[in-house]
Amino acid sequence: MAVSVKRLACHAGRRNTAWASAGDTNVPVGGALSSPRLTIEFAPPAAKFDASLLDALHGRRTRRDFTVAVLPDDVLGALLWAACGVNHPATVGRTAVSPLGLDAIDVYVALPAGVYRYRCAGHRLELHRPIDVRAAGGYRDFASTAPLDLIYVVDLARMKPVPNGQRDVLIGAAAGAIVQNVYLACAALGLATTPYGWLRQDKLADAMLLGRYERPIIAQTVAYPPAS
Ligand SMILES: Cc1cc2nc3c(=O)[nH]c(=O)nc-3n(C[C@H](O)[C@H](O)[C@H](O)COP(=O)(O)O)c2cc1C
Repeated sequence: MAVSVKRLACHAGRRNTAWASAGDTNVPVGGALSSPRLTIEFAPPAAKFDASLLDALHGRRTRRDFTVAVLPDDVLGALLWAACGVNHPATVGRTAVSPLGLDAIDVYVALPAGVYRYRCAGHRLELHRPIDVRAAGGYRDFASTAPLDLIYVVDLARMKPVPNGQRDVLIGAAAGAIVQNVYLACAALGLATTPYGWLRQDKLADAMLLGRYERPIIAQTVAYPPAS
């Protein structure tokens, strides 16, 4: 369960369908009038997962039918821990495999009130910018009402040990491991998800005010599906 006290006052189901074009700009970008929390602390997630691995593998699929229902903090915490949380505290090992253990992918969480960075070691979110960047990459379907996107950002500075010619494939593999973890967690938690590889990286990087060596490479929308 989240234990967050600080607030910042600011104004701030289809399968195999065609991917949304990165040129779609119909969804407005902008900060809603709200007060994003500065940090969101999560409790250990273990109790949230009562599905077996077999169940999760059977349930894994892409769903693009999202509702506006907000994910409770404990569900969000479980999702993020599954994405790339620390599962071996002694070595700060993570749930997601990463080439050379470089952990070059950071997970950002785009909520209506702000975009947060997931701090794996502390299992918490830290406010990065109090703005809504959910549509900034142009990847969202026009009809998407989902309250949450995960944005996978590579820090190229951390990839320096890898020779240039191999970087892209290893970055993609590292992001893919996180994407799959999130898929399985969504199956276990009753959530719908779609990753988006087709996004305007520059526009999203600008909106997020990312550093010189940071690139958003894939986004992944997560939401509750409509009741069936
Ligand atoms: C790296 C990656 C990028 C993807 N990008 C998109 C995308 O931009 N838009 C989209 O609608 N689906 C995207 N998908 C979802 C695939 O289209 C989907 O996984 C595929 O159609 C198979 O469906 P399934 O996941 O239900 O088995 C992506 C999947 C992956 C792994």
